[in-house]
Amino acid sequence: MDRFLHVSDIGPLDKALEEALQVKANPLAWKQLGADKTIMLIFFNSSLRTRLSSQKAALNLGMNPIVLNIGQESWKLETQMGVVMDSDKSEHIREAVPVIASYCDIIGVRSFAGLSDREYDYNETIINQFIEYGGKPVISLESATVHPCQAFADLITIEEHRTKQRPKVVMTWAPHPKALPQAVPNSFAEWMNAADVDFVITHPEGYELDSRFVGNAKVEYDQMKALEGADFVYAKNWSCPGVTRPESYGGILSRDMGWTVDERHMAVTDNAYFLHCLPVRRNMIVSDAVTDSPRRLAAEDAANRVVSAQVVMKRILEGLK
Ligand code: CP
Repeated sequence: MDRFLHVSDIGPLDKALEEALQVKANPLAWKQLGADKTIMLIFFNSSLRTRLSSQKAALNLGMNPIVLNIGQESWKLETQMGVVMDSDKSEHIREAVPVIASYCDIIGVRSFAGLSDREYDYNETIINQFIEYGGKPVISLESATVHPCQAFADLITIEEHRTKQRPKVVMTWAPHPKALPQAVPNSFAEWMNAADVDFVITHPEGYELDSRFVGNAKVEYDQMKALEGADFVYAKNWSCPGVTRPESYGGILSRDMGWTVDERHMAVTDNAYFLHCLPVRRNMIVSDAVTDSPRRLAAEDAANRVVSAQVVMKRILEGLK
């Protein structure tokens, strides 16, 4: 594996899940695999879970993780080609990436969507320059349009808690005061479509996700109807993806607090588990009562971020010459 952005990069999901459960049961069994290898974890944006779980996964595999916060501990990077570099960005990504790559064996990159230029974001302009100019395996730690380590952890959590062969999984949009990227819902949709689940997406009109991620999922605009009989509820905010309303890309179309997941919503489910990738805004995305209920799985899901990252790094290390 030389890159990890999409569900197709991990191969058959049953094998990936089997490996994840092995890694979870015995996380230090591959401690020699990463000996003398270095992973560079590059953050253009803030993180708690991704930063810590990636470091922990690398350490479990015997690797040396090095974290760099771009712009805080390094020069600010220019990522557009053909610009006159007269701003506060002192170094071009074209020069920086080969340098970073020369110091390591694997690169992880967090680079959120800017949410102003859909083409720039959906072309994955930043992480693709790491792939193109680095010549080393690259892991998305949430890039402009995908968050595969999160979606893989979500799948592991659902696998561990499902009681039905084919559970109903509902991803619901929920309100948020800031405009957020679509990476988490895009990847969750992509991974749920590849898994053996009955997958439904619900959101207000205008929030339609890109068709390459929606796939064959059922889209239901009536949130309560979507949630009926759900076994897992996955709540997430995202900004306008610009699919049905290109002029509103990255904007906030709704602040309807009726979409905040509360006990009224959970009551129509089949005693569903509640998941959120965190960080979560209480009483915006989800009520205190639901996020503090015994059916919440956010902490378990966050713990599985080490497992998903470790499986990905393990696969990459096994493929290194
Ligand atoms: N879920 C997630 O990616 O969390 P962080 O942004 O804290 O890394």
